[in-house]
Amino acid sequence: MQAISRRLGHQSVRPSPAIASLKSIFPHSDHYYGAEHHPRYGSTLATKGVGHLVRKGTGGRSSVSGIVAAVFGATGFLGRYLVQQLAKMGSQVLVPFRGSEDSHRHLKLMGDLGQIVPMKYNPRDENSIKAVMAKANVVINLIGREYETRNYSFEEVNLQMAEQLAMIANEHGGIMRFIQVSCLGASPTSPSRMLKAKAAAEEAILREQPEATIMKPAVMIGTEDRILNTWAHFAKKYSFLPLIGGGSTKIQPVYVADVASAIVTALKDDGTSMGKVYELGGPEVYTMQELAEVMYEMIREWPHYVKVPLPIAKAISMPREILLNKVPFPLPTPTLFNLDAINALTTDTVVSKDALTFEDLGLVPHKVKGYPIEFLISYRKGGPNYGSTVSERISPESYP
Ligand SMILES: NC(=O)c1ccc[n+]([C@@H]2O[C@H](COP(=O)([O-])OP(=O)(O)OC[C@H]3O[C@@H](n4cnc5c(N)ncnc54)[C@H](OP(=O)(O)O)[C@@H]3O)[C@@H](O)[C@H]2O)c1
Repeated sequence: MQAISRRLGHQSVRPSPAIASLKSIFPHSDHYYGAEHHPRYGSTLATKGVGHLVRKGTGGRSSVSGIVAAVFGATGFLGRYLVQQLAKMGSQVLVPFRGSEDSHRHLKLMGDLGQIVPMKYNPRDENSIKAVMAKANVVINLIGREYETRNYSFEEVNLQMAEQLAMIANEHGGIMRFIQVSCLGASPTSPSRMLKAKAAAEEAILREQPEATIMKPAVMIGTEDRILNTWAHFAKKYSFLPLIGGGSTKIQPVYVADVASAIVTALKDDGTSMGKVYELGGPEVYTMQELAEVMYEMIREWPHYVKVPLPIAKAISMPREILLNKVPFPLPTPTLFNLDAINALTTDTVVSKDALTFEDLGLVPHKVKGYPIEFLISYRKGGPNYGSTVSERISPESYP
């Protein structure tokens, strides 16, 4: 038994004298129990043929997982959930940022002291990327944008930056895992330029880093999402919601924290996810209109839709595209009427039949209805407790 325990890296179960004396003072408190009551944590980050990383502790935020992850794009929506999950298992997270010092402030508290390391960088300066990656053993790329600006094209953000990271990781030599976050629906034949660029990025990365893992999430739902928040905001402001293309396009929304879990699970496996592509969709397929119904139900507003045919939606979004590089000032960020996203809506975006999914990572994604959309209660006009659905009115006490 002792031999097995030693092999598994378990600590001795005999409490130290200090713990023994604390136990005699506070016999009912379990705060001082420590390692003997928790299975010893083992990071399983490993590349094929290489041993596991040095790790220590019980697996919480004060442990050492051995992972030093450079998370490019950590300041975004998925970034906050991923950084939190990495940090809570004792990983050091390098957070490259390009904006203000505030852009990473919310991430600082997610890890133990000194574990979240913001690093100013410039995505067009190779040396600054090398400086971020220098001490890392894992690179995760979340950089992406669903609209173009005067400064950055779809191709530069979604393809060139990803390719550059893969090349620098190659040169580095010590990057054990490279994870690229792409998009469900990314394909060279997609009607969307962004999705085409994402597909080209997948190809470029697998060329540079054949052992990279590609995650292709569907549209992500969560507190800071850019679909339900945008819809709820619009519906409250204008008392209707435009349904582009009639709202019949099928999507498979996924909870953002599940996507973060998928990335962390892939990192912790024994290398089985290396060189593989995962399609991460939620458990249910919705048409755009069905998802809008879910949103309306949650914000307690009566649904009013205006069905906008695709050619009209494209015409509404066209002026920004035409003027983007012609006027000497930045144009507003497109929300509902984003030409490239409208183009993407011309086809259904659901997980393909024989793709690797959450199931292959041993995960069960959350249903959208429930906790993932609870944040929408902040849009209720009578306050968070305004109105109720039948299911919410039944209190557990009324059960027989
Ligand atoms: N949101 C979704 O529903 C969804 C669905 C499927 C796939 N994805 C993909 O998943 C990844 C993460 O998504 P997200 O929703 O977290 O995106 P996000 O909130 O827009 O964040 C994107 C990140 O990329 C960075 N970035 C954007 N343009 C950049 C540029 N020109 N130079 C350097 N950095 C730049 C942003 O940095 P700043 O903070 O400095 O702008 C931010 O950290 C993206 O690749 C996205 O395409 C998203």
